[in-house]
Amino acid sequence: MNVVLGITGGIAAYKAPDLVRRLRERGAEVQIVMTASAGEFVTETALQAVSGRPIRSNLWDKEAEAAMSHIELARWADVVLIAPATAEVMARIVSGGAPDLLSTICLATEAPIALAPAMNHVMWSNPATQANRQVLEERGIHILGPGIGSQACGETGAGRMLEPDAIAATVFSITGAKGKGLLEGRKVVVTAGPTREAIDPVRYITNRSSGKMGYAIASAAAAQGADVVLISGPVSISAPPGVDIVNVESAEDMYTATHDAITDADIFIAAAAVADYRPANLADQKIKKNDEAMNLHLVRCPDILASVAALDGAPFTVGFAAETENVIDYARGKLEKKKLDMIVANRVGKDCGFDRDDNAATVLWRGGERSFPNSSKVDLARHLIELAAKHFYAARGSETQPGLTVRSNID
Ligand code: C5P
Repeated sequence: MNVVLGITGGIAAYKAPDLVRRLRERGAEVQIVMTASAGEFVTETALQAVSGRPIRSNLWDKEAEAAMSHIELARWADVVLIAPATAEVMARIVSGGAPDLLSTICLATEAPIALAPAMNHVMWSNPATQANRQVLEERGIHILGPGIGSQACGETGAGRMLEPDAIAATVFSITGAKGKGLLEGRKVVVTAGPTREAIDPVRYITNRSSGKMGYAIASAAAAQGADVVLISGPVSISAPPGVDIVNVESAEDMYTATHDAITDADIFIAAAAVADYRPANLADQKIKKNDEAMNLHLVRCPDILASVAALDGAPFTVGFAAETENVIDYARGKLEKKKLDMIVANRVGKDCGFDRDDNAATVLWRGGERSFPNSSKVDLARHLIELAAKHFYAARGSETQPGLTVRSNID
C-alpha cells in the first residue's frame, strides 16, 4: 500500500517518525510530504531515515517535480494520510485551496483521505473547527480521533493525536489493504447485525442492532492482516473494504453461512444480535386482521455461537453478551454455558449499546477480565481484536507472528 503521509505543524509531529515505522512494519510504502511549519517540530533527516525516501515539501521544487510530479504523487497514493492534522490544514482542505504541495495533492487525488487531528482542546472544540470536521466527514474524509487526555500545552481534553499504531491500523482498514499484522495468515469469521424472522411475506421480527460493532471488528481484523469473512444480517451501513461479505436475513441463514465458512477458521467472533425465537410457521400470504387479538407461535432459533464452540477443533470463539442488567454475571454465565474462549459484555439500552457509534465493554475469559471505557466502536474493535489475538496465540501455545512487535496497550 502506498501512503502519502502529510505532516503539518503541530507538536504531535514529533510522533511522525514512529508513525512511519508502524506503517512500514505493516508493509506500506510511505512518501512524506511536509508543510513548511512541520519542520519546526520534526527534522527532514529523521523522517528521510525512517521512510527511506526523500522528503517532499515544496510545490516549486523543479528537480523533485521532474522525478515525480504532484499529480503523479496524487495518483501513486492508495491513501493520503495527514498526521498530525492541524486546524489550519483542515480549514485549507475544506476551502479547496491549493497553496502548497500537500493541499494540492489532497485536491488532485482520488484516493481516500484520512486526517488525524491534533491540537489544543479549545481549538478542537471551536465551532469553526467542528464545522470543518463536519464538512470533511460529509465529503467522505476519514477523521481519526482525536483522543482525549493530557496535552502538550499542559491542559487536558479532546485533541491528542491517536497513537501511531492505532492510526496505522485504521489506515489499513480504511483502504482494505491487507497489512502485515497480528493475524496475518489467519482466518477470522465475524457475524454482525440483526436477523429478520419472517412472519408473512411482508412482516418480520427483528431488533435494534445496527451492525456497527461487528463491522468495526471485521475491519480491525482485516487491518491486522487476517482473511475475514463477515456474515451480516440486514444493515444500512456499507461493507468494509477488504473483507468477504456474506449477506443473510434469518438466523437459520446465518447459521448455514457460518458453518459453511467456519471449517478452516482460526477465530470466530459472534457480534450479531441473532433472534432467539422465530415464528413457527411462515404464512404464505399476508395475514389479515380479523380478530381483536392474535397469537404468534414462536420456536427457538439455532444458537450459532454455541454450535461453533461445540465443534471438534473449534476455532477460538468469542461471543457477545448484550444485557440491560447484571451484565457481568450474565456474561460469565454465558462464557461457561456456551463453552466460549472469551465474551464481550456490554450494556444495551436507551442511551448505550445498539445503533450508536460508541460503546463501552468488559471482556471476560476464564481467569480474567478487562474493561474498556466508552470509546468509538472503531477504537473498541481494535482493542478487542488485539486482545482476542493475544489470547488466541496463548491458547494455541505459540508466540505472535515472528518478527512482529505487538504495539498495543493490552497486557
Ligand atoms: O444467549 P445470548 O443470545 O444472549 O448470547 C449472545 C451471543 O450469542 C452473541 O455473541 C450472539 O451473536 C450469539 N448468538 C448466536 N445465535 C443465537 C443467539 C445468540 O450466535 N441464536
